Amino acid sequence: MSLSAKAVEDSRLHLLPQTNQLKGLMTIIRDANTPRGDFVFYSDRVIRLLVEEGLNYLPVVEKQVTTPMGMAFQGVAFEGRICGVSIMRAGESMEQGLREVCTSVRIGKVLIQRDERTAQPKLYYSKLPKDIADRWVLLLDPMLATGGSAMKCIEVLLEAGVKEERILFINLICAPEGALAMLEKFPKLQIITAEIDERIDDNKFILPGLGDFGDRYFGTE
Ligand code: PRP
Ligand code: URA
Repeated sequence: MSLSAKAVEDSRLHLLPQTNQLKGLMTIIRDANTPRGDFVFYSDRVIRLLVEEGLNYLPVVEKQVTTPMGMAFQGVAFEGRICGVSIMRAGESMEQGLREVCTSVRIGKVLIQRDERTAQPKLYYSKLPKDIADRWVLLLDPMLATGGSAMKCIEVLLEAGVKEERILFINLICAPEGALAMLEKFPKLQIITAEIDERIDDNKFILPGLGDFGDRYFGTE
């Protein structure tokens, strides 16, 4: 079985529905000829879909309301508080998508950069909400290659008291190697992603991938 197929089979990895709309959006952002404005616009659209999907994995409690017709409606309400944590810099691109659906959401930041030569992640800075241990965390980073950066960030979250089963990793594209490594290291973690790619290359870039997300989104190529 290929690594991608193995990743798809893991029940903790949630792939967005592979609709033609999603495929069309992903085709635009994967295209090396897409100008930056379109890259940002269409990435933002997929990020919005990912955030909406991520909210499906939060717990709810039953809630009854009365409609304007005077009838009772048995519904649900979100239970528990959330926050976002973005892995700088590329993860910051996902903050707006989260804010659009969760007004005044708290967002922590962790600056982790891969060494350009060795691809090893280095932690430079973190600032998290003080009560993060009581919250569900939507961890934001569009690219998951080796998984090194995201795993380092999860270690920071666990040290801050976050419960592993309350971490939802919101990701745009993952390499199967990285996703499987993360799921093995953190058995209660859940990953929400748009597409699972084939593999990583010798420079630890995702193939077919979309290149360097941070550079394309922020215009630093
Ligand atoms: C990219 C990306 C992830 C990481 C993924 O960040 O945004 O954080 O690489 O690779 P990994 O799974 O092998 O760790 P990068 O360090 O290049 O910084 P950037 O966000 O500034 O582009
Ligand atoms: N980071 C990126 O932006 N792209 C990759 O392919 C791997 C890591």
